[in-house]
Parts: sequence; structure tokens; C-alpha cells
Amino acid sequence: MAKSIEEEIKTYYGEIAKKVTENAKGSCGCGASCCGSSDHGSILYSKDFIEGLPEEAISASLGCANPIVLANLQKGETVLDLGSGGGIDVLISSKYVGETGKVYGLDMTDEMLKLANHNKEKSGVKNVEFIKGYIEDIPLENETVDVVTSNCVINLSESKEDVLKEAYRILKKGGRLAIADIVELKKVPDDIRENIQMWVGCISGALSIDEYGRLLKNSGFTEIEITPVNVYTKEVMKSIAESKKLGDTYHQLNENIFDGAFAGAYVKAKK
Ligand SMILES: C[S@@+](CC[C@H](N)C(=O)[O-])C[C@H]1O[C@@H](n2cnc3c(N)ncnc32)[C@H](O)[C@@H]1O
Repeated sequence: MAKSIEEEIKTYYGEIAKKVTENAKGSCGCGASCCGSSDHGSILYSKDFIEGLPEEAISASLGCANPIVLANLQKGETVLDLGSGGGIDVLISSKYVGETGKVYGLDMTDEMLKLANHNKEKSGVKNVEFIKGYIEDIPLENETVDVVTSNCVINLSESKEDVLKEAYRILKKGGRLAIADIVELKKVPDDIRENIQMWVGCISGALSIDEYGRLLKNSGFTEIEITPVNVYTKEVMKSIAESKKLGDTYHQLNENIFDGAFAGAYVKAKK
């Protein structure tokens, strides 16, 4: 990954983690700038999923849908969450796999790992481990994981095929991929696409459904299903552009271009 984008991503998400940590009782304060929508944990997840989770885990949610609904987690399973952030999906998964299971959260940003470990302690769970590392180079052994989850992270990678190959490598035979991610439904102008702030906000790096499917297939996955579930309107895109200080660029363009151009999607596949 080029240093500039990686550093931008770490700084951007590190700042969000710090805000949540400093303002434990408040929301993350990032609104539409989180990950392409104004959704927060309590909107993305129905009550039964987030019940009992620390408030900081819910308010730090930066996802684009709830990947755990796809995962069909069973007691005793091992799960890895790519780009675990404040840990919301890890803590939800830990309830499903129970004491005999194990959930790893992998993230490269120190402040996010600190927040995730705080949330783990507050939850009192014993079957969770947050590890520092890159999703392009997963620090786990081959065929050790039953389910790989991820929420609004793979779009941020400049080496998406490496991420998917790594996910395939560490999954056991028959293992499942259960992901929520942003996909591009129609082409947008290059000045928005190439803008680094739109990249760190999960927009510019989004793949088309065809391209996502092709990379999954190349990585060895089968039974691939990619389903848009949360299509972004021009109003949502406008608020994202404004939060990235791109309001001027946005207003010069025909906003209908953005209407329905991106969506939060479910991505399912099997090894
Ligand atoms: C949009 S946030 C999503 C966090 C979490 N999945 C959620 O739903 O709240 C993206 C997270 O992925 C992490 N991240 C981004 N790129 C990464 C990479 N290449 N390797 C490891 N972590 C990464 C960031 O540090 C950040 O915590």
C-alpha cells in the first residue's frame, strides 16, 4: 500500500478512535464522514445484535451494514474480523461462538486497537483477541479460521486481491466469507474518484460488483453472492463530499451522477 494513503487512513481512523475514547458517552461525532453514510451502530444493527455491548463499541461503529447476519456463526467456531475498528463485529461474534469459540480482530491503527481492547475489557469477554497487522498480510496460520468477517474495510485497500487471497489462505476448507463493503454501481468523475479524502471515507476505492466477483473468483472462492443493501442517494453523497471539504467540487458537478452510484453491500462466498 502506498505510504500516503496508508498514513491518511491511520490518521483518519486514529482521530475517530481518539474522539470516541475521549467522549465515551457521546457519539463518534463523525456523522456522514464515517464510511459513506450517516448510519451509526444503533441504526446498522438491530437491538438483539448490540444488546449488552459497551456504548463506545456501538458509537465507534463505522460499518456500512451488519455482516454478522450473513455469517451463520456456530458455537465453537473461530472468526477473524478484518479491520476490526472499535470492535463491534468482534464483540457481537463472540456472543455467537461462545466460550468454546474464538474471535480475532485485526487492525493496523493503534488508537483503534486501544479502543477495541478497552471495549473488550468492558464487555468481560474471554474469547476475543485484537491483533495489530495488515489485512493484506494476515498474521495467522493457513486454514485456521471458520469465518472471515469485515465491515467497510476492503474498499480501503489498494491491494484488494492480496486481501482476498489472504482471507482464502487462512480459511479452513468449507470456511465462509461474510462481508459488508461499499460497491460502485455506476461510474463517477475522476476528480471525486481520485480524491484521497474520498478514499479514506470508503468511496473512491469501492469496486464494481463485477470486479469484486472477479477478484473473489481469482482468489479461489466459490458460491459468490454480492447484494447491494443500502444504496446511497445524492443527498448522502453530498453530505459525504461536504464532510471531506469537497463541497465546491461536488456542487460544480451534476449531482445526479452520484445518485445511486455507491451502495453498502453484502458479500458472501465459500472456500
Ligand atoms: C471504516 S473503519 C471500519 C471499522 C469496523 N469494521 C466497523 O465496522 O466499525 C476501517 C478500519 O479498518 C482499518 N484498516 C484500514 N485499512 C487497513 C489495512 N490495510 N489493514 C488493517 N486495518 C486496516 C482502519 O484502521 C479502521 O479501523
